[in-house]
Amino acid sequence: MKIGFIQFAPILGDVQATIRKIDGLIDQSKITDILVLPELCNSGYNFNSFEEAWETSEEIENSIFINYLKSKCKQLNLYIVSGFNERDNKALYNSAILIGPKGYIGKYRKLHLFMNEKDYFKPGNIGLPVFDIGLCKIGMLVCFDWIFPEVWRILALKGAEIICHPSNLILPGLAQKAVPIHALINRVYIVTANRIGSEGDLSFTGLSTIATPMGNILFQASQIKEETVIKDIDITMARDKIITKRNDLFSDRRPEEYLLLIEKDVKG
Ligand code: ACM
Repeated sequence: MKIGFIQFAPILGDVQATIRKIDGLIDQSKITDILVLPELCNSGYNFNSFEEAWETSEEIENSIFINYLKSKCKQLNLYIVSGFNERDNKALYNSAILIGPKGYIGKYRKLHLFMNEKDYFKPGNIGLPVFDIGLCKIGMLVCFDWIFPEVWRILALKGAEIICHPSNLILPGLAQKAVPIHALINRVYIVTANRIGSEGDLSFTGLSTIATPMGNILFQASQIKEETVIKDIDITMARDKIITKRNDLFSDRRPEEYLLLIEKDVKG
């Protein structure tokens, strides 16, 4: 099967312009199975106020952006994971959505908010879902989630074989170092679709990455260019959790020794 990403710069506050951009980049990817887009793709990232974040958000049911992605998935018979500024009642969530040839499938809401995101978004409240699309099982994380090993592990334990990771990374190079390691220690594929360009005082770091279950970088994009990248993968590699003939990644775990992980206030 084939997986890939589009690395580009969504246009802050202009969903139609962002759709036109994606449309110009997506046709090169006609023959992929799964395509990942960056974080907050329908809105842009660096809001000046809650009002701006609100104005650029959409409800899943009435979203111009999701309707566009649905039509593309149907037309090209593919699955798309994208970052999405989600409005639900009075709240905003920094979400990732999964869409397929038959329409909207599901969402994840970012658990770990970064910097000013805390002023606009509520932290995720729907856990870490995994979606079986037939070809494979997909989990989703969003950007700064990358620094918390627990969430990658939980998705792997729930059966995720590919973790799609829409991002707007800012801290230079750090997540790009960690992602292949998370792939290695969970034996999963990871697609980090990062954005490029800048918004106000923030610059985004590109280097979108596809990492393999052996911790190799199958492809890493440039720091600054728009790129649509599609790669062949062997999904069976993500199903094999045997490390040696006497070691299994999952059954060798010692969860009874990990109880500190579920305590909130730790002193270190
Ligand atoms: C980030 O979480 N967008 C850095």
